[in-house]
Amino acid sequence: MSIQTISWVNGHVKLIDQTKLPGKLVYIHCRDVKTLWQAIRRLSVRGAPALGVAAAFGVLLGIKSFSGSGSRSRNRNDRKHFSKHVDQISDYIAASRPTAVNLFNALARMKQVVHRHPDASVGGLRNLLKKEALAIYEEDRKLCRRMGTFGARLIPSGANLLTICNAGALAAVDYGTALGVMYSAKAKGKKFQVYACETRPLLQGARLTVWELLRSGIDTTLICDNMAATLMKQGKVDGVFTGADRIAANGDTANKIGTYNLAVLAKHHRIPFYVVAPRSSFDLSIKNGRQIPIEQRSKEEVLGFGGCPTAPRQVKVYNPAFDVTDNRLIAAIVTEKGIIRQPFVKNIKRVFERRNHSGE
Ligand code: MRU
Repeated sequence: MSIQTISWVNGHVKLIDQTKLPGKLVYIHCRDVKTLWQAIRRLSVRGAPALGVAAAFGVLLGIKSFSGSGSRSRNRNDRKHFSKHVDQISDYIAASRPTAVNLFNALARMKQVVHRHPDASVGGLRNLLKKEALAIYEEDRKLCRRMGTFGARLIPSGANLLTICNAGALAAVDYGTALGVMYSAKAKGKKFQVYACETRPLLQGARLTVWELLRSGIDTTLICDNMAATLMKQGKVDGVFTGADRIAANGDTANKIGTYNLAVLAKHHRIPFYVVAPRSSFDLSIKNGRQIPIEQRSKEEVLGFGGCPTAPRQVKVYNPAFDVTDNRLIAAIVTEKGIIRQPFVKNIKRVFERRNHSGE
């Protein structure tokens, strides 16, 4: 896997502009936090784990402009202003997209750095924040590979898999969650093939998942979203693998709109439905999926694609970007700590409180 979705290079953020894929592989260089905010908002960078990393790097961009409270001010005063500045940048980044909790978890970690070091100077805090952002970046690389190892056990040789949206290298730093499981299975020599739902309205499945699976040499077939039921009825799906934007304490999972459809269909056809997500995608402060904020996006995304109209402009449009899959439809959640099965309320708590990584 040789896709580097996002990185911190020479004091700025370099990221793949995913709105241009699969046509062109081009990069955006974000040198200020506003450019990064806009890249998040228009989905140049997207996918829950990548959003966490982008948010942390966004704080680094934001603190570049901090000039202190005046040359005569005392260091302590500067620190107070700096801390306020970090809070303001974090609030700004937090307003970019509401659903993926990884973004909020990363911002919380960055703010904690400041609060955990009450005696550090502004210079010291700058270094500590950079260290934390790079740790969030490195962790993603490691955790995705660990989830891949656990999740590959769920893929029987010769299996036909179904996925939606893009939960691959492009949704993380360089490996991915649901697709990471497939990369790991391939590396272990397992034979399988993948059906990718195209994922209207923005076609992350067709544009991004197909692009990266083909680059990885995985046998891939593209389907329109409304073909999944027929595929399952024909016995052509042995397992569904998806990512997650936010998982509640009871296992209810928000992911790209259309994921819930697949989970209902999978239940009806007795096909296991798996979610693959790291700890940073869990929001244990909420009891269930009803409390997950769902992003509503512009009607333009549904009314046309690539400059071509797909419907009469005067029609009313409903465009929620995510839906919530009830925990009872989920066979297992693959995390970096192992595979979590029902009952989720008890097992999620147990897995995240446990120290060792035994796997199941
Ligand atoms: O709107 P997007 O493209 O950011 O939606 C992304 C998804 O729904 C992914 O499946 C999810 O973030 C998990 S990525 C590992």
